[in-house]
Amino acid sequence: MEIKLIQLQMHGDERGSLVALEQDKNIPFHIKRVYYMFSTKESVRRGYHAHKELKQVAIAVRGSCRFLLDDSKERVEVLLDNPAQGLVIESFMWREMYDFSDDCVLMVLADQLYDESDYVRDYEEFIKLAG
Ligand code: TYD
Repeated sequence: MEIKLIQLQMHGDERGSLVALEQDKNIPFHIKRVYYMFSTKESVRRGYHAHKELKQVAIAVRGSCRFLLDDSKERVEVLLDNPAQGLVIESFMWREMYDFSDDCVLMVLADQLYDESDYVRDYEEFIKLAG
């Protein structure tokens, strides 16, 4: 499975660092929604779903966490610990997130508004649909 990690340009100087996100430029879609997770308990594993249509880019803007990505054929673990790196999550990709650091702020950009009917929350169903 090809893992797409976008290297975001970091504008740094003596004042600190800045990263800009632009739709259809360094983010490969129109951004319709942004959400972020924080104060995630250390032992929590979340996600456990895939999407039928939705595309996303996940960025650990602070701290770190791990992603398990599963395309129904292969499972790959990815560590996100760099605010200048965006993980592209295509549709029909099962994801689980875990090992959140105390300070982790995980920001997700999405190309659609929240729509529960786009979720596949049952792993067996995901395997059937992805196949
Ligand atoms: P949930 O889907 O359980 O998160 P995850 O799959 O990443 O573990 O989402 C938690 C709650 O937040 C759930 O009640 C749905 C709600 N939610 C929204 O209202 N809008 C959103 O964009 C997202 C991602 C979740």
